[in-house]
Order: sequence, then C-alpha cells, then structure tokens
Amino acid sequence: MTKPAVLILLGPPGAGKGTQARMLQEKFGLVQLSTGDLLRAAVAAGTEAGQAAKAAMDAGGLVSDEIVLAILKDRMAEPDTQSGVILDGFPRTAGQAAALDELLEAQGMGIGAAISLEVDDAAMVERVSGRYTCAKCGEGYHDSFKQPAVAGVCDKCGATEFKRRADDNAETVSARLKSYHAETAPLIEYYEGKGVLERVDAMGEIGRIADDLAAIVGKVAA
Ligand code: AP5
Repeated sequence: MTKPAVLILLGPPGAGKGTQARMLQEKFGLVQLSTGDLLRAAVAAGTEAGQAAKAAMDAGGLVSDEIVLAILKDRMAEPDTQSGVILDGFPRTAGQAAALDELLEAQGMGIGAAISLEVDDAAMVERVSGRYTCAKCGEGYHDSFKQPAVAGVCDKCGATEFKRRADDNAETVSARLKSYHAETAPLIEYYEGKGVLERVDAMGEIGRIADDLAAIVGKVAA
C-alpha cells in the first residue's frame, strides 16, 4: 500500500516556503503545516509554550526542539493530516529530523520528497521586509512583488485589514539567515543521503516556481 505523502520544504527565511505551501495545498489537497504559524499562534494565545518560544523568535534564533516537537506532534495527531502534509519550516535541526523519522514510522507515513528552495541570501532581506498578509485569511502579499488587485482589499476574502510580522526587520532576518545556515542547511545533505532530496531554483517568478514544485509533488502525491 502506498504511504501518505509527507513533503518537506527547506529554505531560508523568504525562500517562499509559505507562499508555495499554500499553493500546493490548494492544488493537491495536502495540509500545510507551518511550525512558524503554530508557534506564532501559541505566542498570541499566551500558552506556556508560546511564552517560552517568544524570546527566541524575537531574536531570530531557533525555538528549542522540545517545544517545537510537542507542538508538531499535537498537530500531526489531528485526523486531517492522515492523507498527507506539507511541512513548511520543519524540520530545522538534526534532532527534529530524527524525531520526524520516528513519528512518521509510527504513523505509517513516509517522506515523499524534501524540496530545497534555492535562493540568494541577499535578496531574502528585501523579500521578507516587504511582506504582509491579510489579517483575516492569511493570504500573503509583498510591497514590491505581489500587491492585491484592488489596493487595500484582499484578493482572496475581500478583507481590508492587513498585518506584518514582528520578526520581519533587517536585523532579525540576518539572525534568521544565520540560524538557517548553521542548523538547517545541513539537512539538505541528510535528505540527499535518504534519496528524497529535490532542488528547485526559487529565484524568479512565483508561478514558474510553483510549476516546478507541482511537477515534483505530482509524482509523489498522485
Ligand atoms: P517561520 O515562520 O518558519 O519563518 P522563516 O523560516 O523565517 O520563513 P518565512 O516565513 O520568513 O519565509 P518563507 O520561506 O515562508 O517565505 P514567504 O513565502 O513568506 O519561522 C519564524 C520563527 O519561528 C523562526 O525564526 C524560529 O524562531 C521559529 N521556528 C519556526 N519553526 C521552527 C522550528 N522547526 N524549529 C525551531 N524554531 C522554529 O515569502 C516571503 C515574501 O516574499 C512574501 O511576501 C512573498 O510574497 C514573497 N515571495 C515569495 N516568493 C517570491 C518570489 N519567487 N519572488 C518574489 N517574491 C516572492
């Protein structure tokens, strides 16, 4: 029997993990699971995990594996994940990758592909600092690259309120890039060793990158 597909999106801040995961979710009916979103929700709700995570997030560092894994496991236990997920921003450390292998084994799931979004670091500061989202549905926009068709109105849900993330400033983005190269980039080799790595050029037009990803995901999530 084919195991439900788990897709992993690897890439530094601004690489387009969230943008592309949302598009893949719509196209393939997989569930987007972003540990960044889950952690921000925990911070906003003032949970114990959220309070413990906040300082690391504000500084652009990584939240402890213990907190992230607890949040991830809770989310993976929900029934909608059983037909397949897109992991956006997880795993980010060798410890998280090993824990994911164990969790998937226990749930009878397998990694369909770990996709590395390959970008130039220098362009990421501009991408991240110009980013904003619809406050109601979370649709993503950018000051330079992706404005709503009607100024001030979300294309997707028609809402008129937008928000920006607290960690989207040049100083914190530099720290996040540093964390990525120190802790997360080595996972590219880890997944290459497992024979599931795919590399996608993630500079350039969002639609072309989405097509490249869809071609990969179509092979493993069909
Ligand atoms: P997280 O929320 O995961 O943030 P991140 O990895 O820094 O990634 P971003 O969300 O900034 O970028 P993205 O790749 O999703 O790009 P996007 O599609 O938005 O994590 C935040 C924090 O939480 C971390 O710093 C850490 O503290 C903590 N954390 C989370 N997970 C953790 C874990 N597993 N372990 C430990 N700590 C964890 O695109 C960016 C902008 O560019 C958008 O405006 C978009 O419209 C635009 N854009 C996208 N693609 C293109 C393109 N091709 N051309 C032009 N513009 C584009």
